[in-house]
Amino acid sequence: MSDYFYTWRKQGGFTPLEVTGTRGVHFESGGQEWLDLGSLSYQANLGLSCEPVIESIRQQATSLPAALPNWSFPAKDELARKLLAAAPKGFSKVFFTLGGAEANENAYKIARLVTGRHKVMTRYNSYHGATMGALTMTGDYRRPPLEPGIPGVVRLLDCPCRGCQENIGKSGSDTPCAKHIEDTIAGEGRDSIAAILLETVPGANGVRIPSPTFLSEVKKHAARSGALLILDEVLVGFGRLGSMFGFEQFGVIPDMITLAKGLTAGYAPLGAVLVSERVASHFEEQVLYAGLTNYAHPIACAAANAALDVYPASIAKSKPLQDALSRRVAELGKLKAVSHFRSIGLLAALDVELDDDGYRKLASHLNQERVLVHLYSSRRSIVIAPALTCSVDDLHRGLGILEEGVRRAV
Ligand SMILES: Cc1ncc(COP(=O)(O)O)c(C=O)c1O
Repeated sequence: MSDYFYTWRKQGGFTPLEVTGTRGVHFESGGQEWLDLGSLSYQANLGLSCEPVIESIRQQATSLPAALPNWSFPAKDELARKLLAAAPKGFSKVFFTLGGAEANENAYKIARLVTGRHKVMTRYNSYHGATMGALTMTGDYRRPPLEPGIPGVVRLLDCPCRGCQENIGKSGSDTPCAKHIEDTIAGEGRDSIAAILLETVPGANGVRIPSPTFLSEVKKHAARSGALLILDEVLVGFGRLGSMFGFEQFGVIPDMITLAKGLTAGYAPLGAVLVSERVASHFEEQVLYAGLTNYAHPIACAAANAALDVYPASIAKSKPLQDALSRRVAELGKLKAVSHFRSIGLLAALDVELDDDGYRKLASHLNQERVLVHLYSSRRSIVIAPALTCSVDDLHRGLGILEEGVRRAV
């Protein structure tokens, strides 16, 4: 029996993987090497031995290892500058957190304080974090056991068209999903919604790629009703969709952006809310009721500064890997057990119609061959999310093992 809890599971009967080291996109357990095609929990976007990030953490630990929340120091000032330089024009402030859930909580708090309204609209097909507010804003299976959560969360139906696939390429008129959002705003009361919080592309919930116009339609409906659009980029930021931020792929500019995971490449816990000037200026004369002891922790800032320096070249270099992933996933899509597939940048999903026993067999094959991908048996889907630094050869090897596992599990 373990002295600590494991997350999101029954505690009894679970044996964790004992990990002793890392190299590139590999980690070692029991003297054997595993291939990571999931970027761990989607945060290790630069692999597991990125020397500039490690060195930056080392140097920060010897100069300023801890700080007061309202101190200014070089790593914090530099990070805010870099994030705002990467953000769209018109973004003027950063609020730091320790992770993605807190980034979403604080974005929601900011929206409430600025609009004076309390409702937030989110989707069923989403995950926004495990704190009480973020979990209530979450739509997926992790929310119901903790209900009732916070008041004022209005949840939207999932896209009726399975990730808007049927709408891709169509533009000029509202997609059914965006129309549903407009109708829900009207039903709730146009002056009651503080914010609409959406994952740019719902990630762990199956890589549901919106149509090219969906997010800008949502932005239009939000703006008309005075609600703020918050895009949760915790999973899709930092190269995951082939650009620094995921929303760059969809021609939309939100009012706030929430970040975590890849911000430090997963080497230290850090999240952030990027806030547009129009929203941030409210707090010049009003109190921002938000803060954290480890706000902008120096070691996490140092990790993020180094990671942000590495990302542009790594993203540019990842194009062959993105192409290889989309080609190979389309091939896997022809397997009899695969009903749908989707891919964008370095994020891909396969809907694999196996029963529980089939998923158990597949998991055991992947464990035996030591390949990490994200298996979501309850949702009958697999998500693949290699690091930007994964080689095309490693990707092919891992997906070959996955293919063999799916064939055997049928
Ligand atoms: C889209 C999204 N938002 C928020 C979170 C929560 O982030 P954290 O676990 O750092 O609180 C996650 C985590 O998986 C996520 O995928």
